[in-house]
Amino acid sequence: MAVDLLLGLQWGDEGKGKIVDVLTSNYNIIARFQGGPNAGHTLVFNGKKHVLHTIPSGIFHQNATNLVGNGVVIDPVIFKKELDKLEEQDVDYRKTLVISRKAHIILPTHRLLDAASEASKGKAKIGSTLKGIGPTYMDKTGRNGIRVGDLELSDWKERYRALANKHESMIAFYNVNVEYNLAELEKEFFEAIEVLKSLTFIDSEEYIYQAQKAGQSILAEGAQGSLLDIDFGTYPFVTSSNTTAAGACTGLGVSPNQIGEVIGIFKAYTTRVGSGPFPTELFDKDGETMAQVGREFGATTGRSRRCGWLDLIALKYACQVNGVTQLMMMKGDVLSGFETLKICTAYKYKGEIIHHFPYNIEPQNVQPIYTEFKGWSEDLTQMSNASEFPKPLNDYIEFIEKELEIPISVVSVGPDRKQTIFRK
Ligand code: GDP
Ligand code: IMO
Ligand code: MG
Repeated sequence: MAVDLLLGLQWGDEGKGKIVDVLTSNYNIIARFQGGPNAGHTLVFNGKKHVLHTIPSGIFHQNATNLVGNGVVIDPVIFKKELDKLEEQDVDYRKTLVISRKAHIILPTHRLLDAASEASKGKAKIGSTLKGIGPTYMDKTGRNGIRVGDLELSDWKERYRALANKHESMIAFYNVNVEYNLAELEKEFFEAIEVLKSLTFIDSEEYIYQAQKAGQSILAEGAQGSLLDIDFGTYPFVTSSNTTAAGACTGLGVSPNQIGEVIGIFKAYTTRVGSGPFPTELFDKDGETMAQVGREFGATTGRSRRCGWLDLIALKYACQVNGVTQLMMMKGDVLSGFETLKICTAYKYKGEIIHHFPYNIEPQNVQPIYTEFKGWSEDLTQMSNASEFPKPLNDYIEFIEKELEIPISVVSVGPDRKQTIFRK
């Protein structure tokens, strides 16, 4: 069976965790294919909130296997904390969680290198989550990394030491103030490694191949969003992996012709956390309202998310790069109460009107051009059927569908599993 993808189309935090949790009952395998604990995926059910960072969002269902793919980078310390939380909730993950031997390990010194790199950049900093993501992927592409499968080798600690020593000299080279006690960090790291080693490691590309052959259904869960993609995002203010559809092929070992549905999810408005350009960003009361009503604080770092109107130029670009076949619109409820809503439908780029996402979207080059829509005042959070939607909401949805030429199959009207409305 084909592998379906679920991808964020903006700058992350679109609500991927919630939707993966909702869809898990339809799938045998949920697989993360890139990123690491820079992700924060929130699930809400039975009145409780759960945040996952590295573990796939299908973990609360017993029917599905949750796979951490080769493209993911794992911090054993954060991973252990996630497992501890699952244990507190009585989630029996031992039978349902498997890890690719080819996934790379985030070392304590990778986190320190992230901090040193950001500190050295001053005002030009990326606004990284400081989880060591960039340095770990650098070691992966530089062919120096340590992989999950290496933990089964007798000499892995020597390799660890050599790499950590090299990192320490690199940290010194940055010549910035990063204080640390490596002995302490290593103590928790090695303890967490033992926990990781008690889990099931697999040759995940073979596992997926056999699962597909046996007719099992697979959903690949993206992390971050298309505009944070290392190639197609707003470089250098991006993450260090391919967050787009192609990343699922390399991050799981699935061939392109095995991809089925590409589900693209987006917020009814836009948010961004960290540095980088954001053409439709609001600095007024409307932006504050979105932040407050939408509770726009990062699930990983707690930082405030920047908010702005929906950017259809950026969204169209993301749909193109990913080959999106269906859309899901999240946080529709947050827009209730605005008299007028705006959607960016063109950019003024260096004085010219354009309808595509250009090389550079810095504010000195790009100003958004908006189309206005009548708002609605109805509370959507209690609705359970699309037939209850107010007309202005339907107009908003239908406009997006028409412009993108892709159907919106789901409208989410609240954080809870149940607040999910299927349209078609
Ligand atoms: P992810 O990284 O894409 O999984 O998204 P996050 O979990 O980081 O951020 C999405 C936030 O919005 C979380 O706090 C969710 O609980 C919440 N959320 C998801 N869908 C909706 C929705 O339709 N309405 C509202 N109000 N909140 C939502
Ligand atoms: P989820 O999966 C939102 C952002 C950071 C920073 C940039 C680089 O929850 O949608 P990194 O830690 O990768 O070096 O940070 O990317 N970022 C995210 N923003 N959601 C995420 O993940 C993010 N992961 C990274 O804020 O701007
Ligand atoms: Mg998130």
